[in-house]
Amino acid sequence: MFSSSWSLLICALLGFVSLAKAFTPEEVQIFQLQQELVKTYRNPDLDFYKMLKLPKLRDSSSAEIRKNLRKLAKTYHPDKNKKYRKLYERLSLATKILENDSQRKIYDYYLKNGFPNYDFKKGGFYFTRVQPKVWAIGIFIFLSCGLIHFIILRLQNDGNKNRIERFLREVKAQDDTLGLGEKRLLFRQNPDEEGREIIVRFGEVYAVQSDGKEALISTKDIVNPGISDSLLLTLPLWMWRKSVGCLFNFTTSVKNTNELPENKPSSEDSKPKPIRIHGSGEKLELPNGKVVRSRKKN
Ligand SMILES: *[C@@H]1O[C@H](CO)[C@@H](O)[C@H](O)[C@H]1NC(C)=O
Repeated sequence: MFSSSWSLLICALLGFVSLAKAFTPEEVQIFQLQQELVKTYRNPDLDFYKMLKLPKLRDSSSAEIRKNLRKLAKTYHPDKNKKYRKLYERLSLATKILENDSQRKIYDYYLKNGFPNYDFKKGGFYFTRVQPKVWAIGIFIFLSCGLIHFIILRLQNDGNKNRIERFLREVKAQDDTLGLGEKRLLFRQNPDEEGREIIVRFGEVYAVQSDGKEALISTKDIVNPGISDSLLLTLPLWMWRKSVGCLFNFTTSVKNTNELPENKPSSEDSKPKPIRIHGSGEKLELPNGKVVRSRKKN
C-alpha cells in the first residue's frame, strides 16, 4: 500500500538529509573544536569564552578577544614551551572564531541550543542534544508531505470513482429494459480476448466472474480516504510495526480506502462483492462496437 507513497517518503527523507548535511565548514570546525575541548578537559560546561579566560566572558567585544590572545601568548606560546603547542593552536582558533562576528553568532547559537555530536570516524554526525530548529523543520516537512499525500489519495480516490461511474453510465446506456429487466452484455478489453459478461439487472450492474459468481459494481463502497489513511498516520504506524512492533508481533491494520476491496473469494460472504477495474489506459469494448477507454493515470 506504500507504493504510491514512496515518492513522498523519499521527499521527506531528502528533506531530512539535506538539513542534516547542511553544516558549513565553519560549523564543522566549531563542532570539532568544542568537542576537543570538552573531551580534553573533561568538562562538559567548557566553552571558548571560559577557555580563553576572558574576564567578561560572553560580554567581551571582538577587540577585547583579540587583545586577550596576545596576553595569553605571553604565557602559552609554543616558543615558551613546546608542550603548549596544541593548547595554543586551540586558543588561536577559538579567538579567530569569536572575533569574527558571523562565526561568533553561529557559535553562540549552538552554545545556546546544543551542539550536534559530530563523529568523524563514522563519517558524519548524530545528534545528542537536538537543535530545536532542525526538529521544527523536520516536523514541518513531515506535516506538509503528509498533507500532500492526503490530497493525492483524495484525487486518486476521486479518479477511481469517476472511472467506475463513467463505466456504469456507459453500461446503463446499453440497457434497453430501462432498469426494469435484465440485460446481458459482453465486454472486451482486446478484440482477441474472450471478454467478460456484464449483467444489468433492475438498473444494477454486475460483472460475472470466472467462477460464475456475480459481483456488484458500484461506487457506494468507495469511502473517501481520511487523514488517518495518509502518511501522517500510516508512516508512524508502519515504522512502529517495522521496529518495536515486530518484537511484540502484533499487527495493526490500517484500512486503505484508496483501493477498492479486492474480489477475493470469501466463504462467509455470499453477497457479490464489487470488482475492481484494473490498470491504466484500460479499454472496454461495448457490444455496439464502441470502445470505452479509461483515463490514463499519470
Ligand atoms: C568571518 O568568517 C567568514 C566565514 O569564514 C568569512 O567569510 C569572513 O570573511 C570573516 N570575516 C572577517 C571580518 O574576517
